[in-house]
Amino acid sequence: MEGGLTMHHGVSRRAFVQGVSMGAFGAALTSGVGAAGGGMGGMPSTVPDAVGEDGRYSLPPLPYGYDALEPFLSKQTLTLHHDKHHQGYVNGLNATLDKLAAARQAGDYAAVTALSRDLAFHGSGHVLHALYWLSMTPGGAPLEGALLEAVQRDFGSVQAMQAQFAAATKGVEASGWGVLAYEPLAGKLVILQSEKHQNLAIWGAVPLLVCDVWEHAYYVDYQNRRPDYVDGFMQVADWRFAARRLTEALSRA
Ligand SMILES: [Fe+2]
Repeated sequence: MEGGLTMHHGVSRRAFVQGVSMGAFGAALTSGVGAAGGGMGGMPSTVPDAVGEDGRYSLPPLPYGYDALEPFLSKQTLTLHHDKHHQGYVNGLNATLDKLAAARQAGDYAAVTALSRDLAFHGSGHVLHALYWLSMTPGGAPLEGALLEAVQRDFGSVQAMQAQFAAATKGVEASGWGVLAYEPLAGKLVILQSEKHQNLAIWGAVPLLVCDVWEHAYYVDYQNRRPDYVDGFMQVADWRFAARRLTEALSRA
């Protein structure tokens, strides 16, 4: 398609290697340690404030009011989810990094397997929640531009992509996430089902839009009716945010 994406041609190995070198979740928050809020190459980060100025991970403020997504999600749900659950992952991530630093200091790696698991769990939990708040906006935002072209190319149509995304998200076993991601090795968009936070990912893939289907995300408002919650999510999905994420992922080539 004329004027379309060039990601099949240029993006690839370098971006892929860069993603791996930054770690499974470090690559997903573009303001890496020491570059809080600055993004890469002077571009504003698509996920501001997820890393503090001191280089430690931090809880970004909710990008809208706690009641802004009502009636889809209640103020109670967003307050608990953001202030308690997401904060818990941030705390767990920083505490795990502290424990790893202490282990290095002591030269004692007896707990390294458990700590490595904690690092992946809390790190992925922080990344996905930071993306989740931005994946929604009151009233939703349309899918257009370069993302639209990529979706049509890789899924056939917007309807087909959204149907697969909703089905995959509803079908996650136990706790997890539906994830629309950009896979830089082939330059394709893919939809993943993430179990817990960290399982079933593709290394290097950059999450663009995510939907949390842990029960804490919806149980107060929907009880066991996860499909109704996911259908509601599709109505508030911020596809403009996903498009900015794609632009950012491509800019790393
Ligand atoms: Fe959550």
